[in-house]
Amino acid sequence: MKELLKSQNTGLSGVIEVPGDKSISHRSIMFGAIAHGETRIKNFLHADDCLRTLQIFRELGVDIQETADEIIINGYGFENLNIPNHALDVGNSGTTIRLLMGILAGQKNIVTLTGDDSIQNRPMNRVITPLQEMGLILAKENENGLPPITFRGTSQLKPISYKMPVASAQVKSALLFAALQATGTSRIVEKELTRDHTEQMIQQFGGNVIVQGKEITLTGPQKLSGTEIVVPGDISSAAFFIAAALLVPNSKITIKNVGLTNSRTGLIDVVKKMGGKISITDFDPVNQSGNLIVEHSQLKGITIEGEIIPRLIDEIPIIALLATQAQGQTIIRDAEELRVKETDRIEAVNLELTKLGAQITPLVDGLMIEGQTKLNGGIVKSYHDHRMGMMLQIAALLVGKETVNLENPEAISVSYPQFFADLATLLGQNNE
Ligand code: S3P
Repeated sequence: MKELLKSQNTGLSGVIEVPGDKSISHRSIMFGAIAHGETRIKNFLHADDCLRTLQIFRELGVDIQETADEIIINGYGFENLNIPNHALDVGNSGTTIRLLMGILAGQKNIVTLTGDDSIQNRPMNRVITPLQEMGLILAKENENGLPPITFRGTSQLKPISYKMPVASAQVKSALLFAALQATGTSRIVEKELTRDHTEQMIQQFGGNVIVQGKEITLTGPQKLSGTEIVVPGDISSAAFFIAAALLVPNSKITIKNVGLTNSRTGLIDVVKKMGGKISITDFDPVNQSGNLIVEHSQLKGITIEGEIIPRLIDEIPIIALLATQAQGQTIIRDAEELRVKETDRIEAVNLELTKLGAQITPLVDGLMIEGQTKLNGGIVKSYHDHRMGMMLQIAALLVGKETVNLENPEAISVSYPQFFADLATLLGQNNE
C-alpha cells in the first residue's frame, strides 16, 4: 500500500521528458531480431513489459547488447530464431505475447507462451484463429484461447485475406509479422484504424507494405535490414501529466519529445474539444514527435465514440478522471475493448473512482460520467494495472487535505518505473 502524492497551491510546473514509447520499444527489439544486420535503439523503454520482450529474444538466441544509451541487436533473420525447450514468459505484456505469436508462426518447433495472472485471462483466439488459417497448429488443450498457449508454426506459412472483427493493433501486427514470412500476398482490412507503428517500421527496416485507408497489403517473404531507431516519448505516459496539469490549479508544464503520430493523438483532440489548453511546439515531421505545453483549464463534458476510440484506447482511464472534473456529462462509447485490457478497465475505473466520490454509470462498451464532482480520499487499488495505478495517483492530487492510499502501486513499473519521481519533480516536491 502506498500513500499517494498530494498537490499544493503552486500546482505543477517545469519541463519534463517522459520515457520511451512502449509500443515502439517492443517492436524495435522484434524488428531488430528478425532483420539482417545491426539495429541500434536509442531511448528504449526500460520498464517491465519491454524488458520481457528483450529477455525473450535473448532466450530465442538473438545477440542483444546494452550500452549506457543504446541497445544494439545483431539480427540474422526469422530463420535464425531458436526456440528453447522452456516456456517463454511474457509477464504482464499483451503486446509481447500477441506479436510473438505472429513471429513464431513461421517456426517449425513447438513453443509455449505464458505470462502472469492477468495475461492468463486475456483472449488470444483473436490472434490464433487467423494464424491457424495461415498454417499455425495449436495444441488441443488451448481451445479456450487463454495462455499458456502451446503451438507449432510452419516454415510454409500461407498468405491471408482477413477482415478483422476487432480493432486491435496487436492482432494486426501479429498478422503482419506472419505475412512477412508467408509466400504470397496478404490483405488485412482493419475494423477501425489502429496504431500503425508496425506498418511504419516495416518500411523503416527496408520492407514493403501498402496501406490504403483500412486496407493493408503485404507480399512475402521479405528480408528486412537493421537500422537505427530513436524511440520518442510515450504519449500514453505523458497523458497522466497532461491530465494533472489540466486539473490542478496554477499548473503549466512542458512535456518534451512526445511521439505524436496521428494514430496515437486522440487524447489531444479530446482535450481540445473539452476546452483544455494544450498546444504542440517544435513538431518534427520526420520523427513525428514534438513538445506539449499544457495548462490548468476549466473543462466541459463531451461524447467520445466511433473511430477516435482506437486513437486513445489506453488513455480512457485518465480521460474518465478528466470527465469527473468537467462541467456536464461525458459519455464514452464503442470502447468494449477496455474489458479485455490488463484488467476490465470499465469495471475498475467505475469502482475505484466511485470510491473517491465520482458519479459514474458503467456501460457495456464505455462509461457515462457526471461532472463536476468533488473527490474525496480513500483506499483504492490498481488491479495490478499500470494505467489504473497512475490514473488514481492523479486523482489523489484533487482531494485536498484528504489522503488516497493505493494497493499494488508496483504495477506502475510495467510502463513507467520513475513515474512517482517525475510527478514529484513537477509538483516541486522532489527533495533528492
Ligand atoms: C498496443 C495495442 C493496443 C494497446 C496496447 C499496445 C500495441 O492493444 O492497448 O497498450 O502496441 O500494439 P490492442 O491491440 O489490444 O488494442
